Amino acid sequence: MSVTDVSRPIGVFDSGVGGLTVVRALMERLPLESIVYVGDTARVPYGVKSVATIEQFTAQITEFLLQRDVKMLIVACNTMAAVAAEVVHRLARGIPVLDVIEAGAHAAVATSPGGRIGVIGTPTTINSNAYARRMHELDSAVRVYSQACPLFVPLVEEGWLDHQVTRLTAQEYLRPVLAEEVDSLVLGCTHYPLLKPLLREVAGADVRLIDSALTTAEFAARRLQQAGLTRGGGQPADYRFFVSDVPLRFQTIGERFLGRSLGRVEKVDW
Ligand code: DGL
Repeated sequence: MSVTDVSRPIGVFDSGVGGLTVVRALMERLPLESIVYVGDTARVPYGVKSVATIEQFTAQITEFLLQRDVKMLIVACNTMAAVAAEVVHRLARGIPVLDVIEAGAHAAVATSPGGRIGVIGTPTTINSNAYARRMHELDSAVRVYSQACPLFVPLVEEGWLDHQVTRLTAQEYLRPVLAEEVDSLVLGCTHYPLLKPLLREVAGADVRLIDSALTTAEFAARRLQQAGLTRGGGQPADYRFFVSDVPLRFQTIGERFLGRSLGRVEKVDW
């Protein structure tokens, strides 16, 4: 395939199953685009790992996707985007690179009337301060209040999306952020869009929830168009899913994240 061939797939990657929330948003926003997804299920979670380790894993996944001749790279994992986006840009060989933090930060700054923004994510994402840094670059006047929510990832993978334990956990985590009277809350982790109904209930109707999966799909549509890479039609979109561990758990949990059947899941051979 040549670099001008718009039928090439978009490469999307995450530490595991969570990036399927981004794939779901992409499938809805860009139904003609083919996607190759990589979930590093053998090494998840990334959210509690060191920067050096995450950089090394990110480089490996990026190379894998570049070998599959993708036309765009989307870092769907907030943790990778927070600490290893540079690695992806460095390796990308001119291919457009998008990440959930860039998209989420833009959306938050653009749609927070009072400029008081809460951010929730994994410990590595929050400790990196990547969201706050990016938002301050976009608008130095915004106030950002961040909170790590390490228990949300296992609770979502357990399927406890409307469970009393999750509700109490959310009340506890969100208390300090809500005390700052934020007008929007960035869901800075792949898993959190599944908690939207519960978080809306805990945060209250006045707090706008920023879903970085949706904003990333919107960003991707714009970037493809700017780069002249939008696929017009022809064959139906093709979806391929690669994981680094045996696919069984990914298959089961993944369909909840994707909202539809996954089809065949392949094991990567790095
Ligand atoms: N995908 C990660 C994120 O968005 C959550 C899971 C993990 O810790 O690896 O931050």
